[in-house]
Amino acid sequence: MSVVHTPSGRKMRLAVLASGRGSNFEAICRSVDEGRLQAEVVVVISDQKEAPVLSKAGIRGIKNLYINPADYESRDACDVAMAHICQEAGADLIVLAGYMRLLGKSFLRHFRWRTVNIHPALLPAFPGLRAQRQAVEYGVRFSGCTVHFVDEGMDTGPIILQAVVPVHFDDTEDTLTERILREEHRLYPQALQLIATGRVEVVGRKVRIRKQLETADTR
Ligand code: GAR
Repeated sequence: MSVVHTPSGRKMRLAVLASGRGSNFEAICRSVDEGRLQAEVVVVISDQKEAPVLSKAGIRGIKNLYINPADYESRDACDVAMAHICQEAGADLIVLAGYMRLLGKSFLRHFRWRTVNIHPALLPAFPGLRAQRQAVEYGVRFSGCTVHFVDEGMDTGPIILQAVVPVHFDDTEDTLTERILREEHRLYPQALQLIATGRVEVVGRKVRIRKQLETADTR
């Protein structure tokens, strides 16, 4: 059993890893601004030089870095460098928000059960790329999004929260993406706040969400 602890007396520090537009990053920042999420984003890292998420972080005065995986001799070496940056920034939790690369053992060794991801489908259905298109093509009646801990697999870690949306007969990848994204923006900050308040624990492959707020003495 493993609980994500955040030191009492200060906000949970988030490192956000993202490859693209950064709408989940923005939703997280809005939740922080509005007091719904007791956290602060200390660094944003992208594997894409032109990723809009980097300029969005810059506008907010948040440290932002482009890490080019091709600059490293191996995936492991890149993972080690990323972990080092997150540690230097004092991150308690790593938040993947549209980060399109797998993180391996060399990263997770430092942030096991302290790395979370959001995926635009109801896992374990439709892991991997273009999950919304997979759902439309399969003809499912419902899809949604999943916030889960990251392990070495592809979208396989213990599930924290899920939200369901209907899939309509004439949906396209774009219309379903938009419907799911609205849920993502609500669900991700909510999951992060549960973690920030010490209510989330990993029990084997499952996640327990505690009903009561824990005090420092009983954790
Ligand atoms: C989101 O829909 C997220 O669920 C998805 O990428 C999008 C990023 O959007 N992530 C994955 O597909 C990971 N497998 P954003 O950059 O606007 O937050």
